[in-house]
Amino acid sequence: MTRMKSTLDTNSDDFRANDAAYRAKNAELHELRLQQRIGGPQKARDRHIKKGKMLPRERVERLVDPGTPFLELGELAGLDKYDGVPPGAGIITGIGMIEGRHCMIIANDATVKGGTYFGMTCKKHVRAQKIAWNNRLPVVTLVDSGGAFLPEQANIFPDEGQFGSIFHQQVGMSGDGVPQIAVVMGPCTAGGAYIPALCDEVVIVRGQGFMYLGGPELTFAATGEKVDAENLGGGKMHSSVSGVTDHLAEDDAHALAITREIVSHLGELPKTRKTPATPTPPAYPTDEIHGIVSRDIKVPTDNREVLARLLDDSEFHEFKPLFGDTLMTGWGRIHGHEVGILANTGVLFVEAALKATHFISLCVQREIPLLFLADVNGFMVGREVEQAGIAKAGAKMITAMSSARVPKFTVITGGSYGAGYLAMLGRPFQPDAMFAWPSGRSAIMGPDQAASVLAQVRVQINAREGTEWTPEEEEAFKAPIRKEYEDFQGAYNYASNLWIDSVIEPGETRDVMALMLDVASRRPKVETKFGVFRF
Ligand code: COA
Repeated sequence: MTRMKSTLDTNSDDFRANDAAYRAKNAELHELRLQQRIGGPQKARDRHIKKGKMLPRERVERLVDPGTPFLELGELAGLDKYDGVPPGAGIITGIGMIEGRHCMIIANDATVKGGTYFGMTCKKHVRAQKIAWNNRLPVVTLVDSGGAFLPEQANIFPDEGQFGSIFHQQVGMSGDGVPQIAVVMGPCTAGGAYIPALCDEVVIVRGQGFMYLGGPELTFAATGEKVDAENLGGGKMHSSVSGVTDHLAEDDAHALAITREIVSHLGELPKTRKTPATPTPPAYPTDEIHGIVSRDIKVPTDNREVLARLLDDSEFHEFKPLFGDTLMTGWGRIHGHEVGILANTGVLFVEAALKATHFISLCVQREIPLLFLADVNGFMVGREVEQAGIAKAGAKMITAMSSARVPKFTVITGGSYGAGYLAMLGRPFQPDAMFAWPSGRSAIMGPDQAASVLAQVRVQINAREGTEWTPEEEEAFKAPIRKEYEDFQGAYNYASNLWIDSVIEPGETRDVMALMLDVASRRPKVETKFGVFRF
């Protein structure tokens, strides 16, 4: 391996200005995370605690092994989407360690609109299940939810990817041997009752957890039968009469202790398929990335300097360094886990796409996970590259990237646009996990380009109709398009829509990837079947 050499001047004005700009971005991220962590309004939290319940985050903390990290996913989902709802869409999802085993934890936040499911809540729950399924992670669901947020039915009821998909995936996961445990810590009504019912083992809290297809009011309205909640769907009834639940707990703490015990009996922990090396920090401080990422989107970032601060000991065995040099490809380690890196250093040309294709196929053959660090304006355009066959070179890269069944991950570090976004393992290609830094942004094209293209179309129509624009009219046409693209392309819009799994700080990247790589290294190997390559 070769240690990357940095030529960074940390005393330069440029470094300092970049650093200050990035730290402001990180502060914004922490502010948003804080809003999510608080949960629902004070009144709802007070009522929740008064009922003797733990707040959802305390439950998660109590569930995981002390001192181990909880990698939260989708924490900003639904940001600014629903009136009076903090980011997170009323549900907490993430990977945490229970009894030495990584598990997917899904926890309703009953302080946010009674823990009910919005469209984004469904999408987030389904996504968490998908990550668990891909990685064969046991799923522990802490249920405390009023079920569907009724005014949102179009986004929760009829379609694939909505509430019903939670059940469909539960069944599929179970068929693949993924353990699922539910802890009923609050209401669990109607469709919601199927979440625990479809789990392997169910814990319920006495006097606090309730499961029924129709609550007391609905039962009375439908049948005239008068029955209290406890007899209709309480913990004692379900644990001793119906058999719908398996373990009766006295309170939240007891329920979580039982859950930890259940996880301790899930059998032997799957071994890693490869032995990681001893982890070492990068030779250059990761913190310096803040001063490297360009604050001016018109000035490119030196991603070679960035990479030197992400890899163990800054060691990078570069593949084809002299060929297709707008894309770096090569191998390094993150916390000891070997990983194949593809990182942009410019626009994608024919050579870069061919290099990527070759590199991906090597990683597939060697069973090495892929990490795409995306910062790309797209593929090169123009007569020369078209005649050189950039369409088929790009198609080869996409075929290789899309076919590869090794674990694969994306981090959008800068601008990721157009077909470049897609070829660098965009969301449609189902990365195992996808993150963006606060500097990350992505769209079909940049705001200026989009405004110019649409203005160009309009100019042609004007010419056809014999009219002409004044420069002021042209600018009045372009400005709102630019604004729309600016708003669209930000990392937080991607996080809000769950087009990425989380926004992470550059300094968090190594730890996040280490956890994901460890988890992925324990899942069974999946054979890659490459599609047809166009030559
Ligand atoms: N759809 C839309 N909003 C709902 C809702 C639902 N299914 N259930 C609760 N809410 C809203 C309430 O209107 C209230 O909103 P607000 O904060 O703007 O006032 C908020 O969630 C909290 O509800 P509240 O009843 O005060 O909380 P709680 O902790 O006392 O009780 C529930 C929570 C979930 C037990 C109770 O609200 C309930 O039974 N809801 C209906 C459940 C149901 O039948 N769902 C159908 C599923 S198909």
